Amino acid sequence: MRKPIIAANWKMYKNNQEALDFVNKFKPLISRNDQVETVICAPFTLLATVGESIKDSHIALGAQNMYPSLEGAYTGEISPKMLLDLGVKYVILGHSERREILGETDQFIRQKVDLALETGLTPILCVGETLEERQQGKTQTKVSQQLWSALEGILASQAQKLVIAYEPIWAIGTGKNASPEDAEETCAFIRNCLSEIFNGEVAQNIRIQYGGSVKPGNIKEIMAQPNIDGALVGGASLDPESFAQIVNFKE
Ligand code: 13P
Repeated sequence: MRKPIIAANWKMYKNNQEALDFVNKFKPLISRNDQVETVICAPFTLLATVGESIKDSHIALGAQNMYPSLEGAYTGEISPKMLLDLGVKYVILGHSERREILGETDQFIRQKVDLALETGLTPILCVGETLEERQQGKTQTKVSQQLWSALEGILASQAQKLVIAYEPIWAIGTGKNASPEDAEETCAFIRNCLSEIFNGEVAQNIRIQYGGSVKPGNIKEIMAQPNIDGALVGGASLDPESFAQIVNFKE
Protein backbone atom coordinates (compact mmCIF):
# COMPACT_ATOMS: atom_id res chain seq x y z
CA MET A 1 0.00 0.00 0.00
CA ARG A 2 1.24 3.46 -0.87
CA LYS A 3 1.10 5.88 2.06
CA PRO A 4 -0.45 9.21 1.02
CA ILE A 5 2.06 12.07 0.87
CA ILE A 6 0.90 15.67 1.01
CA ALA A 7 3.51 18.38 0.64
CA ALA A 8 3.41 22.14 1.06
CA ASN A 9 5.35 24.10 -1.52
CA TRP A 10 5.77 27.52 0.06
CA LYS A 11 7.57 28.86 -3.02
CA MET A 12 9.08 32.30 -2.30
CA TYR A 13 6.85 33.21 0.65
CA LYS A 14 7.26 33.79 4.42
CA ASN A 15 9.95 35.10 6.73
CA ASN A 16 11.28 33.21 9.77
CA GLN A 17 8.70 34.55 12.20
CA GLU A 18 5.83 33.72 9.83
CA ALA A 19 7.22 30.23 9.32
CA LEU A 20 7.43 29.68 13.07
CA ASP A 21 3.89 30.95 13.60
CA PHE A 22 2.68 28.62 10.86
CA VAL A 23 4.31 25.53 12.37
CA ASN A 24 3.09 26.34 15.88
CA LYS A 25 -0.50 26.58 14.65
CA PHE A 26 -0.24 23.69 12.19
CA LYS A 27 1.37 21.02 14.41
CA PRO A 28 -1.52 20.49 16.84
CA LEU A 29 -4.04 20.44 13.98
CA ILE A 30 -2.45 17.38 12.38
CA SER A 31 -0.83 15.74 15.41
CA ARG A 32 -3.25 12.80 15.45
CA ASN A 33 -2.92 12.16 11.74
CA ASP A 34 -0.11 9.70 11.08
CA GLN A 35 -1.95 8.18 8.11
CA VAL A 36 -0.59 10.87 5.82
CA GLU A 37 3.07 11.69 5.29
CA THR A 38 3.23 15.47 5.62
CA VAL A 39 6.06 17.54 4.17
CA ILE A 40 6.85 21.25 4.28
CA CYS A 41 9.04 22.40 1.37
CA ALA A 42 10.31 25.73 2.58
CA PRO A 43 12.60 28.32 0.95
CA PHE A 44 16.29 27.82 1.82
CA THR A 45 16.24 30.73 4.28
CA LEU A 46 13.56 29.02 6.41
CA LEU A 47 14.86 25.45 6.43
CA ALA A 48 16.74 25.76 9.72
CA THR A 49 13.78 27.38 11.52
CA VAL A 50 11.19 24.97 10.16
CA GLY A 51 13.49 21.98 10.71
CA GLU A 52 13.99 22.90 14.36
CA SER A 53 10.30 23.54 15.01
CA ILE A 54 9.06 20.26 13.49
CA LYS A 55 11.57 18.08 15.34
CA ASP A 56 8.97 16.81 17.81
CA SER A 57 6.42 15.99 15.10
CA HIS A 58 6.03 13.57 12.21
CA ILE A 59 6.26 16.39 9.66
CA ALA A 60 9.19 16.01 7.24
CA LEU A 61 11.34 18.82 5.89
CA GLY A 62 11.65 19.48 2.16
CA ALA A 63 13.57 21.93 -0.03
CA GLN A 64 12.44 23.40 -3.36
CA ASN A 65 15.60 22.96 -5.37
CA MET A 66 19.30 21.96 -5.19
CA TYR A 67 22.40 22.22 -7.32
CA PRO A 68 23.70 18.94 -8.78
CA SER A 69 27.13 19.01 -7.17
CA LEU A 70 28.29 18.22 -3.64
CA GLU A 71 30.31 21.42 -3.33
CA GLY A 72 32.28 23.85 -5.43
CA ALA A 73 32.45 27.30 -6.93
CA TYR A 74 28.74 27.77 -7.68
CA THR A 75 27.90 31.18 -6.32
CA GLY A 76 24.41 31.38 -4.92
CA GLU A 77 23.67 27.66 -5.17
CA ILE A 78 22.85 25.07 -2.47
CA SER A 79 24.15 21.50 -2.52
CA PRO A 80 22.38 18.32 -1.40
CA LYS A 81 25.02 17.97 1.35
CA MET A 82 23.97 21.33 2.77
CA LEU A 83 20.32 20.27 2.70
CA LEU A 84 21.05 16.99 4.46
CA ASP A 85 22.98 18.92 7.10
CA LEU A 86 19.73 20.74 7.98
CA GLY A 87 17.67 17.55 8.19
CA VAL A 88 16.06 17.89 4.77
CA LYS A 89 14.52 14.67 3.49
CA TYR A 90 12.68 15.68 0.30
CA VAL A 91 13.63 18.00 -2.54
CA ILE A 92 11.31 19.31 -5.26
CA LEU A 93 13.05 18.99 -8.63
CA GLY A 94 11.98 20.22 -12.05
CA HIS A 95 9.13 22.42 -10.85
CA SER A 96 7.52 24.12 -13.86
CA GLU A 97 8.35 27.54 -12.43
CA ARG A 98 12.05 26.62 -12.58
CA ARG A 99 11.73 25.01 -16.00
CA GLU A 100 9.81 27.96 -17.47
CA ILE A 101 11.19 31.01 -15.65
CA LEU A 102 14.76 29.87 -14.99
CA GLY A 103 15.20 27.78 -18.12
CA GLU A 104 16.01 24.47 -16.43
CA THR A 105 16.47 21.73 -19.01
CA ASP A 106 15.55 18.06 -18.80
CA GLN A 107 19.26 17.26 -18.80
CA PHE A 108 19.98 19.53 -15.82
CA ILE A 109 17.02 18.09 -13.91
CA ARG A 110 18.33 14.60 -14.65
CA GLN A 111 21.67 15.49 -13.00
CA LYS A 112 19.80 16.70 -9.93
CA VAL A 113 17.67 13.57 -9.68
CA ASP A 114 20.80 11.40 -9.89
CA LEU A 115 22.67 13.25 -7.17
CA ALA A 116 19.64 13.60 -4.90
CA LEU A 117 19.13 9.82 -4.96
CA GLU A 118 22.84 9.14 -4.54
CA THR A 119 23.06 11.34 -1.44
CA GLY A 120 19.86 9.98 0.15
CA LEU A 121 17.45 12.83 -0.56
CA THR A 122 14.06 11.88 -1.98
CA PRO A 123 13.23 13.80 -5.16
CA ILE A 124 9.71 15.06 -5.74
CA LEU A 125 10.01 15.19 -9.53
CA CYS A 126 7.52 17.55 -11.16
CA VAL A 127 6.12 17.00 -14.64
CA GLY A 128 3.22 18.60 -16.50
CA GLU A 129 2.00 20.20 -19.68
CA THR A 130 1.17 23.77 -20.68
CA LEU A 131 -2.35 24.83 -21.67
CA GLU A 132 -1.30 24.93 -25.32
CA GLU A 133 0.09 21.39 -25.14
CA ARG A 134 -3.13 20.15 -23.52
CA GLN A 135 -5.26 21.82 -26.18
CA GLN A 136 -3.14 20.22 -28.89
CA GLY A 137 -3.55 16.78 -27.30
CA LYS A 138 0.14 16.61 -26.38
CA THR A 139 -0.19 16.02 -22.62
CA GLN A 140 1.01 12.42 -22.68
CA THR A 141 3.87 13.10 -25.11
CA LYS A 142 5.16 15.92 -22.88
CA VAL A 143 4.84 14.05 -19.59
CA SER A 144 6.36 10.89 -21.01
CA GLN A 145 9.34 12.78 -22.41
CA GLN A 146 9.92 14.53 -19.06
CA LEU A 147 9.79 11.21 -17.21
CA TRP A 148 12.08 9.31 -19.57
CA SER A 149 14.70 12.04 -19.65
CA ALA A 150 14.75 12.41 -15.87
CA LEU A 151 14.60 8.72 -14.96
CA GLU A 152 15.86 6.37 -17.68
CA GLY A 153 18.78 4.34 -16.40
CA ILE A 154 18.14 4.92 -12.70
CA LEU A 155 18.34 1.67 -10.75
CA ALA A 156 14.96 0.18 -9.95
CA SER A 157 16.11 -0.32 -6.34
CA GLN A 158 16.68 3.45 -6.01
CA ALA A 159 13.57 4.40 -7.91
CA GLN A 160 11.13 2.92 -5.36
CA LYS A 161 11.33 5.93 -3.09
CA LEU A 162 10.82 8.56 -5.79
CA VAL A 163 7.79 10.80 -5.63
CA ILE A 164 6.36 12.16 -8.90
CA ALA A 165 4.21 15.29 -8.90
CA TYR A 166 1.89 15.76 -11.86
CA GLU A 167 1.32 19.49 -12.09
CA PRO A 168 -0.47 20.73 -15.21
CA ILE A 169 0.97 24.23 -15.65
CA TRP A 170 -2.42 25.75 -16.50
CA ALA A 171 -3.76 24.63 -13.10
CA ILE A 172 -0.96 26.17 -11.01
CA GLY A 173 -1.99 29.25 -9.08
CA THR A 174 -5.00 29.79 -11.33
CA GLY A 175 -7.74 28.49 -9.04
CA LYS A 176 -8.67 26.08 -11.87
CA ASN A 177 -7.73 22.57 -10.82
CA ALA A 178 -7.71 19.71 -13.30
CA SER A 179 -10.87 17.65 -12.89
CA PRO A 180 -10.19 14.61 -10.70
CA GLU A 181 -10.90 12.40 -13.74
CA ASP A 182 -8.41 14.26 -15.97
CA ALA A 183 -5.80 14.22 -13.19
CA GLU A 184 -6.38 10.50 -12.68
CA GLU A 185 -6.05 9.81 -16.39
CA THR A 186 -2.62 11.44 -16.55
CA CYS A 187 -1.47 9.92 -13.24
CA ALA A 188 -2.44 6.46 -14.50
CA PHE A 189 -0.48 7.21 -17.68
CA ILE A 190 2.50 8.28 -15.54
CA ARG A 191 2.36 4.98 -13.64
CA ASN A 192 2.32 3.18 -16.96
CA CYS A 193 5.43 5.09 -18.08
CA LEU A 194 7.11 4.21 -14.78
CA SER A 195 6.44 0.54 -15.35
CA GLU A 196 8.08 0.82 -18.79
CA ILE A 197 11.07 2.75 -17.43
CA PHE A 198 11.52 0.44 -14.40
CA ASN A 199 9.08 -2.45 -13.95
CA GLY A 200 5.53 -3.03 -12.81
CA GLU A 201 6.40 -3.65 -9.18
CA VAL A 202 8.47 -0.48 -8.83
CA ALA A 203 5.76 1.51 -10.59
CA GLN A 204 3.21 0.25 -8.07
CA ASN A 205 5.40 1.50 -5.20
CA ILE A 206 6.14 4.99 -6.51
CA ARG A 207 3.83 7.66 -5.14
CA ILE A 208 2.27 10.11 -7.58
CA GLN A 209 0.97 13.47 -6.38
CA TYR A 210 -1.35 15.87 -8.14
CA GLY A 211 -0.58 19.60 -7.90
CA GLY A 212 -2.43 22.65 -9.20
CA SER A 213 -5.02 24.64 -7.24
CA VAL A 214 -5.50 21.95 -4.58
CA LYS A 215 -7.74 23.31 -1.81
CA PRO A 216 -9.66 21.97 1.19
CA GLY A 217 -12.75 21.86 -1.06
CA ASN A 218 -11.32 19.58 -3.75
CA ILE A 219 -8.74 17.39 -1.96
CA LYS A 220 -11.18 14.61 -1.09
CA GLU A 221 -12.22 13.87 -4.65
CA ILE A 222 -8.64 14.17 -5.86
CA MET A 223 -7.42 11.68 -3.23
CA ALA A 224 -10.27 9.31 -4.12
CA GLN A 225 -8.60 8.58 -7.48
CA PRO A 226 -6.79 5.23 -7.53
CA ASN A 227 -3.53 6.50 -9.07
CA ILE A 228 -3.26 9.71 -7.06
CA ASP A 229 -1.35 9.20 -3.81
CA GLY A 230 -1.01 12.74 -2.58
CA ALA A 231 -0.83 16.41 -3.41
CA LEU A 232 1.73 19.15 -3.88
CA VAL A 233 0.07 22.29 -2.60
CA GLY A 234 1.10 25.88 -3.30
CA GLY A 235 -1.22 28.74 -2.32
CA ALA A 236 -3.44 26.75 0.06
CA SER A 237 -0.40 25.51 2.01
CA LEU A 238 0.51 28.98 3.23
CA ASP A 239 -2.28 29.07 5.79
CA PRO A 240 -2.04 26.54 8.64
CA GLU A 241 -5.79 25.90 8.90
CA SER A 242 -6.27 25.39 5.18
CA PHE A 243 -3.20 23.14 4.84
CA ALA A 244 -4.31 21.13 7.90
CA GLN A 245 -7.75 20.60 6.32
CA ILE A 246 -6.02 19.28 3.22
CA VAL A 247 -3.77 16.92 5.21
CA ASN A 248 -6.79 15.79 7.26
CA PHE A 249 -8.86 15.13 4.11
CA LYS A 250 -10.15 11.84 5.54
CA GLU A 251 -11.85 13.44 8.53
P1 13P B 1 -1.03 26.14 -6.36
O1 13P B 1 -1.50 25.13 -5.35
O2 13P B 1 -0.89 27.52 -5.80
O3 13P B 1 -1.81 26.07 -7.62
O4 13P B 1 0.49 25.70 -6.75
C1 13P B 1 0.75 24.40 -7.13
C2 13P B 1 2.21 24.19 -7.18
O5 13P B 1 2.91 24.72 -8.01
C3 13P B 1 2.79 23.31 -6.16
O6 13P B 1 4.11 23.00 -6.47
